[in-house]
Amino acid sequence: MSAPPLTEPFSIAGVEAPNRVVLAPLAGIGNWFVRLQAKRFGAGLTVSEMISSFAIHHRNEKTMRDLLMIHPSERDYPGPIAFQLFGQDPEVMRSAAATAAEQGADIIDLNMGCPVPKVMKNGAGAALISDPAVAVEIARAAGEGSGLPVTVKLRSGQKNGEADGFQLALRLVDEAGVAAIAFHPRSAQVKHKGSPDYELAAKLVEELPVPVILSGGMSDTDATLAAREQTGAAAVMLARGALGNPWLFERVLGLRETAPEREEIVAELGWVMDRASEHLGDDRAGRYLRTFYPWYLDRLEVDKPTLIAFQQSESLDEAREMLADLAPLAAVANP
Ligand SMILES: Cc1cc2nc3c(=O)[nH]c(=O)nc-3n(C[C@H](O)[C@H](O)[C@H](O)COP(=O)(O)O)c2cc1C
Repeated sequence: MSAPPLTEPFSIAGVEAPNRVVLAPLAGIGNWFVRLQAKRFGAGLTVSEMISSFAIHHRNEKTMRDLLMIHPSERDYPGPIAFQLFGQDPEVMRSAAATAAEQGADIIDLNMGCPVPKVMKNGAGAALISDPAVAVEIARAAGEGSGLPVTVKLRSGQKNGEADGFQLALRLVDEAGVAAIAFHPRSAQVKHKGSPDYELAAKLVEELPVPVILSGGMSDTDATLAAREQTGAAAVMLARGALGNPWLFERVLGLRETAPEREEIVAELGWVMDRASEHLGDDRAGRYLRTFYPWYLDRLEVDKPTLIAFQQSESLDEAREMLADLAPLAAVANP
């Protein structure tokens, strides 16, 4: 049986997403304005960047202010918002999930796939794949603490050729009542390199009674639709392919056929600058956006000195001026 079109709604334990195209959790990136941007371009479900359950539990000021917040504009668009939490202590997770629910999350997503040594050495992220009993306890605690549906994002396994992540997914659903699995079928060992094992993902789709959200390798429209076709996953999750490319949501949903015009790219980067300023103030936003600039500027095919000038810009205003200089060029190039 073929999977429903990506434009159809789907449900995560009764929480309805209006379509099946999801913004992936992206550490250091997936704040409210990146989620809002994805929603503006059609994403049916957005997930926050990973947030430490310990930081929430201890009411860390920066975490509470910058990460654990939903902007009212995010609610102008349909579709749930998930907060992704990480940590290895069930009681801390119970408390953090309760706070995330109070802050307005619709879904609690748990990170059991992060391969970063700093996270894994504490027994969190992908380390939980090797600790299934604790992983199950954490998922239960998150559900009990929040009263919300719990989803888990994990990988195929610790090492290439292993399927311990696959096995954990089955246990999480069966024993902890996890409502959906976001499956990234690459091992923790390879981090983000190499081809995802879509065959294994297809097997998980067949075996699980809950939605599988596929992650990995969906860098453009064709790759996304092919991966979806091959796996039959309930939904697809866009990550690196959507960095500086919110148009990918529209393309995958069939809302748009062509790549953005240069003017649209310039305007979109301007939107990002304004929202970052609203989020962090001009000073912090200027530094924060240095990572974001190349995603947009590469699409505009600017020369290297321009790219470097943006990345070394001292303030948001300086970057705004440079963007204003690019605008007329963009208009000429795309009359
Ligand atoms: C910069 C960056 C940050 C990421 N942060 C997270 C995160 O916070 N939580 C998580 O579960 N996965 C995270 N991931 C993994 C992505 O959500 C996704 O699973 C992965 O990039 C594979 O998809 P892709 O090949 O389409 O990029 C991150 C990936 C990247 C590149």
